[in-house]
Amino acid sequence: MKKVVILNGSPHEHGCTAALADVVSKEAADLGAEVKSYYLNGMNINSCQGCRACTDKGQCIQQDDMREIFDEIASADGIIFATPVYMWQMSAQLKTAVDRLLPFLRPGYTTSLEPGKKVLLAATQGRPDTDLFRHYFEHVGNNLLFLGFGSYKILIAGGTRQHEDLTNQTELLEEARHMGRWLANEPFANS
Ligand SMILES: Cc1cc2nc3c(=O)[nH]c(=O)nc-3n(C[C@H](O)[C@H](O)[C@H](O)COP(=O)(O)O)c2cc1C
Repeated sequence: MKKVVILNGSPHEHGCTAALADVVSKEAADLGAEVKSYYLNGMNINSCQGCRACTDKGQCIQQDDMREIFDEIASADGIIFATPVYMWQMSAQLKTAVDRLLPFLRPGYTTSLEPGKKVLLAATQGRPDTDLFRHYFEHVGNNLLFLGFGSYKILIAGGTRQHEDLTNQTELLEEARHMGRWLANEPFANS
């Protein structure tokens, strides 16, 4: 059984970002995947302190809720990094967690992550043009590959201020379900 972990970086637990991630994960769950969802804003996750203890120890020395996230990522087949676009980027809540992923990078630019982990970067944004920030999410995705994640895809919903702005977008919702199938390891149509 595949395991999919959602890291929701929106301050709105049931906002547009959560709704987008839900469409993806529901499809994955329907295909048998186990889904676990984390609302980062409600967790105790400190910023990286740059102490580099992880370089020596292979793990972060901070005793906070990131410990659970490390374990979940290590055991997941797919990770959904979900965020609203804030100031042209991912939210601070998600960025704080992403900064904390450094322990997975091992000496000599190797990784402690098991190979083949799939990443979905799922973003919602107020601006309707979904190409506006795509280059930024490609940059984020490539950084995650450098950390040792196996592959990534990007899913962006534009023009979202409230739920209806998402649920009206039938093409986008179908793309989201495709992503769910990809995470659950179904053949990905047209790719
Ligand atoms: C502080 C703040 C900054 C934002 N910055 C952007 C932005 O740079 N570009 C954009 O298209 N939308 C921006 N938005 C709109 C949100 O990305 C959008 O409404 C998103 O779908 C909200 O998701 P949520 O319901 O999960 O909070 C911003 C919203 C807020 C509150």
